[in-house]
Amino acid sequence: MFSSFKKIQNIGSTSIRFYSTIKKGRLDGKVALITGAADGVGRESSLLFAKEGAKVLLVDVNDIKGKEVESLIKSSGGEASFFRADVSKASDVKEMIDAVEKTFGKLNILFNNAGIMISEDDDSVNTTEEVWDKTMNVNLKGVFLGCKFGIPALLRAGGGTIINTASFVAIMGAATPQIAYTASKGGVLAMTRELAIIHARQNIRVNALCPGPLRTELLDKFLNTPEKRNRRLVHLPMGRFGLANEIANGALFLASDESSYVTASTFLVDGGLTASYVTPL
Ligand SMILES: NC(=O)c1ccc[n+]([C@@H]2O[C@H](COP(=O)([O-])OP(=O)(O)OC[C@H]3O[C@@H](n4cnc5c(N)ncnc54)[C@H](O)[C@@H]3O)[C@@H](O)[C@H]2O)c1
Repeated sequence: MFSSFKKIQNIGSTSIRFYSTIKKGRLDGKVALITGAADGVGRESSLLFAKEGAKVLLVDVNDIKGKEVESLIKSSGGEASFFRADVSKASDVKEMIDAVEKTFGKLNILFNNAGIMISEDDDSVNTTEEVWDKTMNVNLKGVFLGCKFGIPALLRAGGGTIINTASFVAIMGAATPQIAYTASKGGVLAMTRELAIIHARQNIRVNALCPGPLRTELLDKFLNTPEKRNRRLVHLPMGRFGLANEIANGALFLASDESSYVTASTFLVDGGLTASYVTPL
């Protein structure tokens, strides 16, 4: 093994060029289902997964943007199909899992990514029951339903991988409250850990992807003034919000066989936020 490693180290530039032309996609032969695929992290992940060879069922409630992602992938030679489903409704989620098996024959990668953050979400005194219920239904029940109907499909395919989008707020507190959102993401993190252990001997890996604050529609709507943005930026070691494609790269690792010994992880892609005390000037 070591000698073949040495041989690879010694190959000339022509061979390196040859090897790069036969390089395979990191998700070749896999079928992925991504929720919240019309925008932000879901959109970037859909484009990246398709580029890496996966066939992707794009799930969202936004038909127009979802179909745009489908066209983009198809026009670049990839395979994707948009399916409208609301992840907070059991009947829709069941249908989306039926659809992925009907359209692409199986399910290998389930990315439960759809999530909402409602601007009226505040502290426990000011947050209404309606905001609490709506947030929980999409962010937490939506992930539960995805696993409820998706795990049997993964088992039919011989196993697979689940990525549930949680957040850095599942790990650290903030005095800029969004209590329903934070509680929902804490639930996603705890549920993911338990699912990973339950299914660890069935060739199913389950990981929680925890992004730091990102420049996407979700946060832009919430941080709609320079004061609100700056209140957060000072705490970010890199001095900037993350980008959706930076999270998609983390999701790609968790989706691919490269992460074959990674399960039950709290997979942080947060620019160092959760490890920092005093940030650089
Ligand atoms: N943006 C951030 O700062 C941030 C940070 C940490 C975690 N996250 C999480 O990352 C995930 C993606 O966030 P984003 O920033 O890309 O958001 P986004 O708003 O850009 O995209 C979310 C997508 O989910 C879809 N969606 C909403 N409700 C749905 C439902 N009921 N059923 C199906 N689709 C639905 C929306 O239509 C949209 O296309 C979310 O779970 C979010 O909570 C985001």
